[in-house]
Amino acid sequence: MAIVRGEGIKVWDPEGRSYTDLYGGHAVTVLGHSHPALVEAITEQSRKLIFYSNAVYSDVRARACKRLVEAAPGKLKKVFMCNSGTEANETALKMARKYTGKNGIVAMKEGFHGRTVASLSVTGIDRYRNQFAPLLEGTRFAEFGNMDSVRDAVDGNTAAVILEPVQSMAGMRTAPPEFFGELREYCVEKDILLIFDEIQTGFGRMGKMFAAQYYNVTPDMITCAKGIAGGFPAGAVLLTDEMGETIAMGEHGSTFGGGPLACAAMEATLKTIRLDGLLARVKDLGDHIQQLFNTVDRVKEVRGVGLLRGFKFDIPAKEVQKGLMEKGFIVGTAVSEPDVIRIMPPLITAKDDIDEFYRSMEKLLTEMN
Ligand SMILES: Cc1ncc(COP(=O)(O)O)c(C=O)c1O
Repeated sequence: MAIVRGEGIKVWDPEGRSYTDLYGGHAVTVLGHSHPALVEAITEQSRKLIFYSNAVYSDVRARACKRLVEAAPGKLKKVFMCNSGTEANETALKMARKYTGKNGIVAMKEGFHGRTVASLSVTGIDRYRNQFAPLLEGTRFAEFGNMDSVRDAVDGNTAAVILEPVQSMAGMRTAPPEFFGELREYCVEKDILLIFDEIQTGFGRMGKMFAAQYYNVTPDMITCAKGIAGGFPAGAVLLTDEMGETIAMGEHGSTFGGGPLACAAMEATLKTIRLDGLLARVKDLGDHIQQLFNTVDRVKEVRGVGLLRGFKFDIPAKEVQKGLMEKGFIVGTAVSEPDVIRIMPPLITAKDDIDEFYRSMEKLLTEMN
């Protein structure tokens, strides 16, 4: 499939056929495609300065950092800017090693954190890991949502626990809300850092800027990418002042991280989420999805939170995905469960769009009977 144009939640192929993009351009386009605020910010910045590295001060970077820190849970006041999710996770893992002097990481089975070596080492999906062994030593895996399993995995060498607050690639798996509070307390007690990979859960998809706020827990680091700049490549790590001080100038860096265009896109994205009241919409829309799709006979389970949703079917997800595509809807499948469809639509999605999707899915499932 080729996509040549996008606007709002629609995209078009070269023949002019339109699709409703419930996959959000791969969980990225929180504002929808080519949102005017984003187009304007990138255009205006490109006229002023396309690039200079972070070796110099940049006003647009300072504004983007300020907005990011204002959106983050209270203690996370420092930002490291990079270009992608995996780079944000690599940074957080390096920081954890430096800060604690230990190299063990506890990650979750079926969790996904990226494709470079450290991120892959803490990714709990065998299909992605196996061909690249040996990966980094010292990684141990626990069951997501299970504190006993986390306690078993932790040892004297554990520097940090890393997890996705909702395991998206695995099939939109959630953990009991109390798991996060217990995990936070346990990490404090054991002097272990807690890292939330919010590359998918961040920037409004759960009705809060971050899942950390949804679960009312402040981790020591949050890694961000995907929605952070509405589709312009960017990533960031949010950390406490204390964590930020562990690393001296020059010990870690990135040429393109925090570049002017990425920061202009980030500033516009964060501003638009706030000004347009998009967070409040997500909760209502999420509740609507839950109610509506719970009534679909062949949907065995509606998963996830807000606009990060999974539907478990009694038929292979690939068939449903193909049928939906023919009806003009783009959705994703999951890596760990072949019968789960995932959607992560833009925050601007309307109730009518969801209703239309529901009707098309009902029709498709009747045709497939
Ligand atoms: C939860 C999570 N972490 C990390 C990554 C890696 O991000 P990137 O592809 O930007 O490196 C992804 C990408 O899908 C992701 O979903």
